[in-house]
Amino acid sequence: MKNKLVIGNWKMNLSFEEANDLIIAIGDALEGFHTNSEVVLSPSFVYLELATDLAEEYNFSIAAQNCSEYENGAYTGEISASMLAALKVNFCIVGHSERRKYFHETNETIAKKVDLLHKQQLIPIVCCGETMEERKNNEHFKIVEQQLVESLFHLNKEMFGHVIIAYEPVWAIGTGETATPEQAQEMHAFIRSLIEKKYGAETAYNAYILYGGSCNAKNALNLFMQPDIDGGLIGGASLKTSEFIAIIEAADSAAKDN
Ligand code: PGA
Repeated sequence: MKNKLVIGNWKMNLSFEEANDLIIAIGDALEGFHTNSEVVLSPSFVYLELATDLAEEYNFSIAAQNCSEYENGAYTGEISASMLAALKVNFCIVGHSERRKYFHETNETIAKKVDLLHKQQLIPIVCCGETMEERKNNEHFKIVEQQLVESLFHLNKEMFGHVIIAYEPVWAIGTGETATPEQAQEMHAFIRSLIEKKYGAETAYNAYILYGGSCNAKNALNLFMQPDIDGGLIGGASLKTSEFIAIIEAADSAAKDN
């Protein structure tokens, strides 16, 4: 049995007080029950220190939402992987479609971030996924393959073991439109087959491939029951304690049944 992984991507939301209350509420609610799932919270940069301090008392880990593609130096406003490591952050999301769209992040910059995170022993959570237009043109497999090859496949087998992949079809993010479990499973199986071809069957089996895009308490179980879906990257639904906890419960029971 493989544990499921559930990551809450808070994006640019919540006041300091709200972030504090949500971390504590989730931490309290998790006490004792999630033996088959692991939980990661990803607040914005300015709440990371608060989050990593509280994480020491609770049963979850912390992810940043981005890091600089540069190691250090004159890059006003940027935050380096080593700064995140100093805050005891464990993971970092890179290549989210919002960053690709609004901040012009490319597969090449994502590859640089992955390497800098690895240098600091942080685990990158690398997002991939197609737009609706690409899916309609039947280019979705090609696009996702290109994203993964260009941002991750330069890694050797050992370092590839320290990566999490999140498949997030762009048309499903924040839209309320979820990929069906079959659509998601089809892409996850494809991603796993690419990993198998490049790194072998064991690495492919061990790889974590999460689904993201309007995942909520209602649809989470059906998604997580799919054999190649190892958990979820949750946006909007991770901002409400009861909804997020219900998603973790779904992950927990899917892990037991798989
Ligand atoms: P959503 O976002 O759950 O609000 O669709 C997911 C994500 O962007 O990671």
